[in-house]
Amino acid sequence: MISAAVLLAFAPLFLAASEEAVIRTPKPAPRPRINGPSVTGSRPGGTFLYRVPATGARPMTFSAAGLPPGLVIDSSTGIITGRSEREGDYPVRLQTVNSFGTATRTIRIVIGPALAHTPPMGWSSWFAEDFHISDRIVRKQADLLVSSGLAAHGYGWVNIDDGWAVKQGTNEPDYRGPERDAAGNLRSNGKFPDMKAMCDYVHGKGLKIGIYSSPGKLTCGGYPGSYGHEEQDARQFAAWGFDLLKYDWCSYDKIAKDKSLEELEKPYRIMNEALRKTGRDFLYSLCQYGMGQVWNWGRDVGGHLWRTGMDIAPSPRPVWETMTENGFLNVGPEKPVGPGGWNDPDFLLVGHIRIGEESLPTPLTPNEQYLQVSLWSMLSAPLLVSADLTKLDEFTLNLLTNDEVIAVDQDALGGQCVRVARHGPLEVLAKDLEDGSKAVGLFNRGELQTWMTVKWSDLRINGPRRVRDLWRQKDLGRYQREFRALVPPHGVVLVRLAALEHKNLRGRIDRKP
Ligand code: GLA
Repeated sequence: MISAAVLLAFAPLFLAASEEAVIRTPKPAPRPRINGPSVTGSRPGGTFLYRVPATGARPMTFSAAGLPPGLVIDSSTGIITGRSEREGDYPVRLQTVNSFGTATRTIRIVIGPALAHTPPMGWSSWFAEDFHISDRIVRKQADLLVSSGLAAHGYGWVNIDDGWAVKQGTNEPDYRGPERDAAGNLRSNGKFPDMKAMCDYVHGKGLKIGIYSSPGKLTCGGYPGSYGHEEQDARQFAAWGFDLLKYDWCSYDKIAKDKSLEELEKPYRIMNEALRKTGRDFLYSLCQYGMGQVWNWGRDVGGHLWRTGMDIAPSPRPVWETMTENGFLNVGPEKPVGPGGWNDPDFLLVGHIRIGEESLPTPLTPNEQYLQVSLWSMLSAPLLVSADLTKLDEFTLNLLTNDEVIAVDQDALGGQCVRVARHGPLEVLAKDLEDGSKAVGLFNRGELQTWMTVKWSDLRINGPRRVRDLWRQKDLGRYQREFRALVPPHGVVLVRLAALEHKNLRGRIDRKP
């Protein structure tokens, strides 16, 4: 699509010199700030667990007014726990205090049938560790989610991927033994001596924990899947204390009669029923690479997120190619998302990932990483970091903890960005936000640094707008009809456009039309 009205001025200036990992975002201030989504919740009677994401100097104390009955907040950690039977949409006033000041924020806690009001954020073991995952690693990564500060920005999931079960035909002692016990219950391998204790440990940090299986006889890695044992496995996952199941098609190919919609949906419906029967709140993550346009029916089979494409793996194709392909294919109204159901273009490949036996820096350049996090946020995609957090460097931490960019991802409207213009490798994407402002991304997939312009007429807005650079968290000024920026190759400029505001005599903020 080429929009005539949007000017994408090609002004190739020079090829970027070899790229430096430039830190764009100011560090969080010592005064308190409450981050994260403005809405969260559980089913009635479900286990509620939420760690209030807050930055600022520690020690810090927390309080919450208006919590649904049955929920309590721990004043020193800010972890809210409990069960609430009473359905409702509760405005909760959170407060946190440290020696530098006080922060307050009202969020909504919804006790009702829906889960995943905003896209999940957290960590996944897959590219961080692949099949080398263990109890020790999970606990360590959970510790690091908190101690690094990631949890203070809303990263609250610890998701175990393939490789936790017993595996036939391997010589490694840890993987040996029967796949199921005498009663048919799935067994974890020797690296996971006590799944329940591990889940309790992660929960104790205010984080939730996910597990992985397949509707086939085997997972993609050749570990046992749940075929024929769906109810038993769901009960087992619930008894251990897991909060999410990623259900990966893999060898179900051998069981499905064909690729009709009915056959594609079937195994996901069966497991959904099984999960619902446990009575535990599970986020249900469908992984079948987008077959049968899963975004049209993922919700109907109980899914809260569904992969829309193949893996963004470090091989055989370059990560830059698979990442941009997965991401840009999700742009637009054809693949709708919204509270409770999210398109999942796969993990954030940032920081250090495991490639073979080595832990190596992501093949994505710094600009490409800014582009991935920006694009995922514009898409309201899950922000699942699949990196080894023991090697988290300053650049990666900074990249992942920009609260203004995260706010675009977690915006309660839950919208999807649309393509305002495309011209060759240049794309302008726009996303409506709950407060009436718009996030706009100028994406340059090309090899040249290029001036790009977005015109208000293409965004169907009129009048002056305040433009804020989200990565730098800096106001750029007032723009009348358009905004223009120099965008690095394989890079992005991400801004938020807001109507002008003025303060009336009482100091209340009024928004001009
Ligand atoms: C598939 C999935 C990946 C990962 C692996 C595990 O490739 O797409 O995300 O879960 O299986 O084997």
